[in-house]
Amino acid sequence: MPELADAAATLIRGRRATRSFRPDPVPDRTLREIFDLAAAAPSNSNAQPWQVEVVSGAKRDELADALVAAHQEGRRSVDFPYSEAIYEAVHQKRRAAAGGALYGALQIGFDDHDARAAYDAESLRFYGAPHVALLFAPDTAEARLAADVGMYGQTLLLAMQAHGVSSCPQGLLSFYAGTVRETLGLDRGKLLFGISFGYADRAAAVNRFSVGRASLDETTRFHN
Ligand SMILES: Cc1cc2nc3c(=O)[nH]c(=O)nc-3n(C[C@H](O)[C@H](O)[C@H](O)COP(=O)(O)O)c2cc1C
Repeated sequence: MPELADAAATLIRGRRATRSFRPDPVPDRTLREIFDLAAAAPSNSNAQPWQVEVVSGAKRDELADALVAAHQEGRRSVDFPYSEAIYEAVHQKRRAAAGGALYGALQIGFDDHDARAAYDAESLRFYGAPHVALLFAPDTAEARLAADVGMYGQTLLLAMQAHGVSSCPQGLLSFYAGTVRETLGLDRGKLLFGISFGYADRAAAVNRFSVGRASLDETTRFHN
Protein backbone atom coordinates (compact mmCIF):
# COMPACT_ATOMS: atom_id res chain seq x y z
CA MET A 1 0.00 0.00 0.00
CA PRO A 2 2.57 2.60 -1.10
CA GLU A 3 -0.06 5.35 -1.39
CA LEU A 4 -1.21 4.90 2.19
CA ALA A 5 2.40 4.80 3.39
CA ASP A 6 3.13 8.04 1.53
CA ALA A 7 0.01 9.64 2.96
CA ALA A 8 0.96 8.50 6.47
CA ALA A 9 4.48 9.93 6.10
CA THR A 10 3.04 13.24 4.87
CA LEU A 11 0.57 13.34 7.75
CA ILE A 12 2.95 12.28 10.53
CA ARG A 13 5.98 14.29 9.38
CA GLY A 14 3.83 17.27 8.41
CA ARG A 15 2.60 17.79 11.97
CA ARG A 16 4.64 20.11 14.12
CA ALA A 17 4.10 22.03 17.31
CA THR A 18 2.53 25.35 16.29
CA ARG A 19 2.95 28.33 18.61
CA SER A 20 1.15 31.15 16.82
CA PHE A 21 -2.42 30.92 15.54
CA ARG A 22 -4.93 32.97 13.58
CA PRO A 23 -8.02 33.79 15.65
CA ASP A 24 -10.62 32.29 13.28
CA PRO A 25 -12.37 29.28 14.84
CA VAL A 26 -12.57 25.77 13.42
CA PRO A 27 -16.16 25.14 12.18
CA ASP A 28 -18.29 23.03 14.57
CA ARG A 29 -18.75 20.26 12.03
CA THR A 30 -14.97 19.91 11.54
CA LEU A 31 -14.50 19.91 15.31
CA ARG A 32 -16.92 17.02 15.68
CA GLU A 33 -15.27 15.06 12.85
CA ILE A 34 -11.83 15.53 14.39
CA PHE A 35 -12.83 14.43 17.89
CA ASP A 36 -14.90 11.55 16.54
CA LEU A 37 -11.84 10.31 14.59
CA ALA A 38 -9.51 10.73 17.58
CA ALA A 39 -11.79 8.50 19.65
CA ALA A 40 -10.65 5.58 17.44
CA ALA A 41 -7.37 5.60 19.42
CA PRO A 42 -6.36 2.29 21.01
CA SER A 43 -6.29 1.73 24.76
CA ASN A 44 -5.53 -1.13 27.10
CA SER A 45 -8.60 -3.48 27.08
CA ASN A 46 -10.42 -0.74 25.15
CA ALA A 47 -11.08 1.07 28.44
CA GLN A 48 -10.78 4.48 26.70
CA PRO A 49 -9.92 6.10 30.03
CA TRP A 50 -9.80 9.66 28.70
CA GLN A 51 -12.06 12.59 29.41
CA VAL A 52 -11.69 15.40 26.92
CA GLU A 53 -12.84 18.96 27.53
CA VAL A 54 -12.89 21.15 24.41
CA VAL A 55 -12.97 24.86 25.20
CA SER A 56 -13.79 27.65 22.74
CA GLY A 57 -15.32 31.15 22.59
CA ALA A 58 -16.00 33.13 25.78
CA LYS A 59 -15.11 30.13 27.98
CA ARG A 60 -11.72 29.92 26.26
CA ASP A 61 -11.07 33.59 27.08
CA GLU A 62 -12.21 33.06 30.68
CA LEU A 63 -9.88 30.06 31.04
CA ALA A 64 -6.92 31.99 29.58
CA ASP A 65 -7.51 34.85 32.06
CA ALA A 66 -7.81 32.40 34.97
CA LEU A 67 -4.60 30.60 33.99
CA VAL A 68 -2.62 33.83 33.65
CA ALA A 69 -3.94 35.01 37.05
CA ALA A 70 -3.02 31.67 38.69
CA HIS A 71 0.45 31.92 37.14
CA GLN A 72 0.96 35.50 38.32
CA GLU A 73 -0.18 34.61 41.83
CA GLY A 74 1.96 31.47 41.95
CA ARG A 75 -1.09 29.21 42.44
CA ARG A 76 0.24 25.99 40.94
CA SER A 77 -1.65 22.71 41.30
CA VAL A 78 -0.24 19.61 39.65
CA ASP A 79 -2.02 16.24 39.48
CA PHE A 80 1.03 14.31 38.27
CA PRO A 81 4.16 15.30 40.25
CA TYR A 82 6.91 16.82 38.13
CA SER A 83 10.63 17.05 38.63
CA GLU A 84 13.54 17.67 36.24
CA ALA A 85 14.95 14.43 37.66
CA ILE A 86 12.57 12.38 35.49
CA TYR A 87 14.88 13.13 32.54
CA GLU A 88 18.15 11.25 32.03
CA ALA A 89 21.18 13.15 30.69
CA VAL A 90 20.53 12.14 27.07
CA HIS A 91 16.94 13.39 27.31
CA GLN A 92 18.06 16.63 28.94
CA LYS A 93 20.41 17.18 26.01
CA ARG A 94 17.59 16.79 23.49
CA ARG A 95 15.37 19.10 25.54
CA ALA A 96 18.08 21.75 25.60
CA ALA A 97 18.48 21.52 21.82
CA ALA A 98 14.72 21.93 21.29
CA GLY A 99 14.62 24.85 23.74
CA GLY A 100 17.55 26.48 21.94
CA ALA A 101 15.75 26.18 18.59
CA LEU A 102 12.51 27.61 20.03
CA TYR A 103 14.07 30.57 21.82
CA GLY A 104 16.39 31.15 18.85
CA ALA A 105 13.33 31.50 16.57
CA LEU A 106 11.85 33.92 19.12
CA GLN A 107 15.17 35.79 19.32
CA ILE A 108 15.23 35.32 23.09
CA GLY A 109 18.75 34.88 24.48
CA PHE A 110 19.67 31.73 26.43
CA ASP A 111 20.16 33.65 29.69
CA ASP A 112 17.25 36.04 29.27
CA HIS A 113 15.15 34.46 32.02
CA ASP A 114 12.70 37.37 32.13
CA ALA A 115 11.87 37.09 28.44
CA ARG A 116 11.50 33.31 28.76
CA ALA A 117 9.17 33.70 31.73
CA ALA A 118 7.11 36.29 29.83
CA TYR A 119 6.81 33.88 26.90
CA ASP A 120 5.73 31.08 29.24
CA ALA A 121 3.07 33.33 30.75
CA GLU A 122 1.80 34.27 27.30
CA SER A 123 1.61 30.61 26.30
CA LEU A 124 -1.12 30.24 28.95
CA ARG A 125 -3.25 32.16 26.43
CA PHE A 126 -2.88 29.13 24.15
CA TYR A 127 -0.54 30.94 21.73
CA GLY A 128 -3.59 32.81 20.43
CA ALA A 129 -5.39 29.60 19.41
CA PRO A 130 -9.20 29.85 19.40
CA HIS A 131 -9.58 26.39 20.99
CA VAL A 132 -7.93 24.25 23.62
CA ALA A 133 -8.59 20.59 24.45
CA LEU A 134 -7.79 19.47 28.00
CA LEU A 135 -6.97 15.77 28.36
CA PHE A 136 -7.88 14.21 31.68
CA ALA A 137 -7.26 10.74 33.09
CA PRO A 138 -9.43 9.25 35.88
CA ASP A 139 -8.71 10.14 39.51
CA THR A 140 -7.21 6.67 39.96
CA ALA A 141 -4.75 7.14 37.08
CA GLU A 142 -1.06 6.26 37.16
CA ALA A 143 1.39 5.45 34.37
CA ARG A 144 -0.68 2.72 32.71
CA LEU A 145 -3.74 4.87 32.21
CA ALA A 146 -1.58 7.87 31.27
CA ALA A 147 -0.18 5.75 28.41
CA ASP A 148 -3.72 5.32 27.05
CA VAL A 149 -4.36 9.06 27.20
CA GLY A 150 -1.04 9.61 25.39
CA MET A 151 -2.26 7.29 22.62
CA TYR A 152 -5.42 9.37 22.37
CA GLY A 153 -3.39 12.58 22.33
CA GLN A 154 -1.26 11.66 19.33
CA THR A 155 -4.28 10.27 17.47
CA LEU A 156 -6.00 13.60 18.10
CA LEU A 157 -3.00 15.60 16.81
CA LEU A 158 -2.98 13.55 13.60
CA ALA A 159 -6.75 13.84 13.17
CA MET A 160 -6.35 17.62 13.44
CA GLN A 161 -3.45 17.62 10.97
CA ALA A 162 -5.56 15.62 8.49
CA HIS A 163 -8.19 18.38 8.66
CA GLY A 164 -5.66 21.20 8.17
CA VAL A 165 -5.82 22.16 11.84
CA SER A 166 -2.54 22.92 13.64
CA SER A 167 -1.84 22.21 17.28
CA CYS A 168 0.52 22.49 20.21
CA PRO A 169 0.44 20.00 23.08
CA GLN A 170 1.12 21.96 26.27
CA GLY A 171 2.28 20.23 29.42
CA LEU A 172 2.51 23.67 31.00
CA LEU A 173 -1.28 23.80 31.29
CA SER A 174 -1.20 20.80 33.67
CA PHE A 175 0.62 22.92 36.25
CA TYR A 176 -2.69 24.73 36.83
CA ALA A 177 -4.97 21.69 36.98
CA GLY A 178 -7.06 23.11 39.84
CA THR A 179 -7.69 26.34 37.93
CA VAL A 180 -8.78 24.38 34.84
CA ARG A 181 -11.21 22.23 36.87
CA GLU A 182 -12.61 25.25 38.71
CA THR A 183 -13.15 27.27 35.52
CA LEU A 184 -14.78 24.36 33.68
CA GLY A 185 -16.89 23.28 36.68
CA LEU A 186 -15.27 19.83 36.95
CA ASP A 187 -15.07 17.92 40.22
CA ARG A 188 -12.94 15.00 39.03
CA GLY A 189 -10.20 13.94 36.65
CA LYS A 190 -6.43 14.35 36.65
CA LEU A 191 -5.09 16.71 34.02
CA LEU A 192 -2.24 15.37 31.89
CA PHE A 193 -1.85 18.10 29.26
CA GLY A 194 -3.73 20.49 27.03
CA ILE A 195 -3.66 20.89 23.26
CA SER A 196 -4.08 24.37 21.82
CA PHE A 197 -5.36 24.22 18.27
CA GLY A 198 -6.68 26.19 15.32
CA TYR A 199 -5.31 27.55 12.06
CA ALA A 200 -1.59 28.35 12.04
CA ASP A 201 -0.23 31.82 11.50
CA ARG A 202 2.13 30.72 8.76
CA ALA A 203 4.02 34.02 8.71
CA ALA A 204 5.13 33.77 12.35
CA ALA A 205 8.85 33.01 12.74
CA VAL A 206 8.09 30.75 15.72
CA ASN A 207 6.21 28.44 13.38
CA ARG A 208 9.04 28.16 10.93
CA PHE A 209 11.78 26.32 12.80
CA SER A 210 11.74 22.57 13.18
CA VAL A 211 13.41 20.18 15.56
CA GLY A 212 14.94 16.90 14.40
CA ARG A 213 14.82 13.49 15.99
CA ALA A 214 17.40 11.12 17.42
CA SER A 215 18.66 8.59 14.88
CA LEU A 216 16.81 5.28 14.66
CA ASP A 217 19.82 3.47 16.18
CA GLU A 218 19.72 5.66 19.27
CA THR A 219 16.17 4.74 20.25
CA THR A 220 15.28 1.47 18.54
CA ARG A 221 16.79 -2.01 18.52
CA PHE A 222 15.71 -4.81 16.24
CA HIS A 223 16.07 -8.28 17.80
CA ASN A 224 16.08 -11.54 15.90
C1 LIG B 1 3.04 15.85 26.33
C2 LIG B 1 3.65 17.05 25.63
C3 LIG B 1 3.76 18.25 26.32
C4 LIG B 1 4.29 19.39 25.68
N1 LIG B 1 4.34 20.56 26.36
C5 LIG B 1 4.73 21.69 25.72
C6 LIG B 1 4.65 22.95 26.39
O1 LIG B 1 4.24 23.05 27.55
N2 LIG B 1 5.03 24.06 25.69
C7 LIG B 1 5.45 23.97 24.39
O2 LIG B 1 5.75 25.02 23.80
N3 LIG B 1 5.54 22.80 23.72
C8 LIG B 1 5.19 21.66 24.37
N4 LIG B 1 5.22 20.44 23.70
C9 LIG B 1 5.65 20.39 22.30
C10 LIG B 1 7.05 19.79 22.17
O3 LIG B 1 8.01 20.75 22.56
C11 LIG B 1 7.26 19.35 20.72
O4 LIG B 1 6.31 18.36 20.40
C12 LIG B 1 8.67 18.76 20.50
O5 LIG B 1 9.65 19.75 20.71
C13 LIG B 1 8.83 18.19 19.10
O6 LIG B 1 8.55 19.20 18.15
P1 LIG B 1 7.43 19.00 17.03
O7 LIG B 1 6.15 18.67 17.73
O8 LIG B 1 7.37 20.33 16.32
O9 LIG B 1 7.88 17.88 16.15
C14 LIG B 1 4.74 19.30 24.34
C15 LIG B 1 4.64 18.06 23.65
C16 LIG B 1 4.10 16.96 24.28
C17 LIG B 1 3.99 15.66 23.52
